[in-house]
Amino acid sequence: MKPTNAPKTYRVKSFGCQMNVYDGERMAEMLSERGIVPAPDGEDADLVVLNTCHIREKAAEKVYSDIGRLTKGKTQAKAPMIAVAGCVAQAEGEEIMKRSPAVSMVVGPQAYHRLPEMLDRAVKGERATDTDMPAIAKFAALPERKRTNPASFLTVQEGCDKFCTYCVVPYTRGAEISRPYVDLVTEAKKLVHAGAKEITLLGQNVSAWSGEDEKGHMIGLAGLIRDLARVDGLARIRYTTSHPADMDDDLIAAHGEIDKLMPFLHLPVQAGSDRVLRAMNRSHTAESYLRLLDRFRAARPDLALSGDFIVGFPGETDAEFEETLALVDEVKYAQAFSFKYSPRPGTPAATMEGQVAKEVMDERLQRLQAALNRDQFAFNEASVGKTCEVLVERKGKHPGQWLGKTPWLQSAWFEGEAAIGDLVQAELIEAGPNSLAGRMLEPARSAA
Ligand code: SAH
Ligand code: SF4
Ligand code: F3S
Repeated sequence: MKPTNAPKTYRVKSFGCQMNVYDGERMAEMLSERGIVPAPDGEDADLVVLNTCHIREKAAEKVYSDIGRLTKGKTQAKAPMIAVAGCVAQAEGEEIMKRSPAVSMVVGPQAYHRLPEMLDRAVKGERATDTDMPAIAKFAALPERKRTNPASFLTVQEGCDKFCTYCVVPYTRGAEISRPYVDLVTEAKKLVHAGAKEITLLGQNVSAWSGEDEKGHMIGLAGLIRDLARVDGLARIRYTTSHPADMDDDLIAAHGEIDKLMPFLHLPVQAGSDRVLRAMNRSHTAESYLRLLDRFRAARPDLALSGDFIVGFPGETDAEFEETLALVDEVKYAQAFSFKYSPRPGTPAATMEGQVAKEVMDERLQRLQAALNRDQFAFNEASVGKTCEVLVERKGKHPGQWLGKTPWLQSAWFEGEAAIGDLVQAELIEAGPNSLAGRMLEPARSAA
């Protein structure tokens, strides 16, 4: 193959979960270290990293349509160099290489620290695939954190051992692994130094994190949160995503004790029928899930709840779907994500009997989303009149307008003298379905 010109600009496009967003940021940092710069908005990049998601069929197909768009009508010399990263790369690496000659690199989520070496080979015209799973070796090989957003992500745990019967994550991300305590405290401090005011601890099963603290004691996620709360300049801590099976008393207590731990919990339930939950290999029942939420709410009465739902899991009857609606009515989520079941290759549910017709799934999803939207709006309306801190994350559409997040993870906007990264005291004055309007009460404070 003929040598290709070394890329001067890059763009990383991340799809899927926040873990992918974190990985995308780290890949961007590596490319920047190599002297490649982000392509200006609206301009083509010389190198495009498609950081893909395999969770549902539609998400996985996106990679092929994106490759088509990037190369359409372009000669080889004009087309960008393409790297496919993320969970589709892990699951279908070989196939991508065969199907798309325009792709030079395929790199899995546990191997992307090797992207620079692969890039050197790609510049020489070689195509390279790396979908090894060397546990967490990548973190040690990544450059230091130097810039970040006021609301940053920190991956503390990766992989999943839960094997829900519909889900590809245990196959694309591998077994559950916790990053070492010291590395996390160090990275958190670097993020704060670089401007982070809020850190969301990430993991496919973040509540399964465990590690040895400086004194040699084994601690869980609650212990880590307690120690991170002592980092000067860090004002807010969040974590996601949790599995009901790993929530312990210490974590529940932490919600009542640690001011910096925000009053928000994303705890996916998936369905309201115990038969469906068993078939999904979820280890909770609707009842055990509800009682767990009671304990969290007892520790932190203003806790906002969020969840994930799948409608149309194989065999789900109308009556079983009604049980999901009943659970939603009982919990009153502040926000939620809901999906139609999508059969994923290699997962047990994909070959189960009783696959549900598309029209039935459409109708169920519509009804579920109507209920979830109703509750989200009600939650926002109930927030009107409250005074709270808003972390400013970006400018609004109009001059002098700012957008940020409330402690309950609602989007809020207000007008006034402020800057990105400020923590602003605001009174919430008007609710919309997806955001709230606020009035700034005091001059912003820029540090915790
Ligand atoms: N680790 C998290 C979430 C992982 S994926 C957890 O256990 O909850 C995010 C969400 O995608 C899941 O919670 C589930 O609601 C949805 N999802 C996963 N696999 C799916 C599939 N095959 N079809 C439809 N939705 C799916
Ligand atoms: Fe997937 Fe279940 Fe693991 Fe979540 S807990 S990542 S849904 S297998
Ligand atoms: Fe998607 Fe992989 Fe995340 S499949 S949801 S990017 S772990």
